[in-house]
Amino acid sequence: MSARHLISIDDVDRAGIERILDRAESFAEVSGREIKKVPALRGRTIVNLFYEASTRTSSSFELAAKRLSADVVSVRSVGSSVDKGESLKDTIQTLSAYDPAAIVIRSPHVGAARLVAGWCDAAVINAGDGKHEHPTQALLDVYTLRRALGSLDGVSIWIVGDVLHSRVARSNILAFKRMGAEVTVTGPPTLIPRGIEALGCAVQPTIERLGEADVVYVLRMQHERMRESFIPSLREYAACYQISTTRLAPRQLLMHPGPVNRGIELSADAIDSPQALIGEQVKAGVAVRMAVLYELLAGTPALAAVA
Ligand code: NCD
Repeated sequence: MSARHLISIDDVDRAGIERILDRAESFAEVSGREIKKVPALRGRTIVNLFYEASTRTSSSFELAAKRLSADVVSVRSVGSSVDKGESLKDTIQTLSAYDPAAIVIRSPHVGAARLVAGWCDAAVINAGDGKHEHPTQALLDVYTLRRALGSLDGVSIWIVGDVLHSRVARSNILAFKRMGAEVTVTGPPTLIPRGIEALGCAVQPTIERLGEADVVYVLRMQHERMRESFIPSLREYAACYQISTTRLAPRQLLMHPGPVNRGIELSADAIDSPQALIGEQVKAGVAVRMAVLYELLAGTPALAAVA
């Protein structure tokens, strides 16, 4: 059976990722036209269900669905019946009445997207489940890097910061490795999960050897997921790990998934430097999410079947 969902980067092999990126290239061309719409998903319904704060992911999924001519319903937990105590399962059942072709879900709970896939007939796309995974972010980051470098084969990528609470780190390590890159993670020891090497990355305790990186991928300090103090102070964190232009070589590329805590994990000069791809990442979001929706709903499936 063909694949129906995108829950984890593990659902898609290298050939599948490349197909999605190639398709995203052609959708990027559509986004450059005056009329930014193709009829690929005309008459299909897509539900965006966001139980957590989001600017880029929710707006780009909405635009992606609209540019494919789908009918889109966007539901946020605030202001919906979730506020009144409706459970996730009941909400999915309610929204299933509209017979959606796809449900895009962001939730603070690990495993939420997988649960939703078991409760409905729609294709389910994980737009972030707690600190677990965020596969479309990884795909748009691979797309951005492929455009900048041609290929990720043999490229050294350092992921810096709060790896422990980051679903982006998990999905990106898997995707970067799958595309042939070498991945190293670094950050305060309390923010590096034990056993992370099992994902195929190296661990460095400090940024002393950051010069070895071709790409420096900086993560946000995820205050909302911290129930205790993981670092002595933000000042101390910034002193040891903040990425500024003085800590970057001019040949190194800089990435961040956004939103940025300006002056904490990144200095203002680094954000605004020409080596930063942060704006490119946001731009890639629409084309890559169009490609994912197309692949699941209209294309020859590139995704492996999810159990
Ligand atoms: C990320 C997320 O929500 O996981 N943001 C995003 O989707 N662009 C990263 C973050 O919140 O730090």
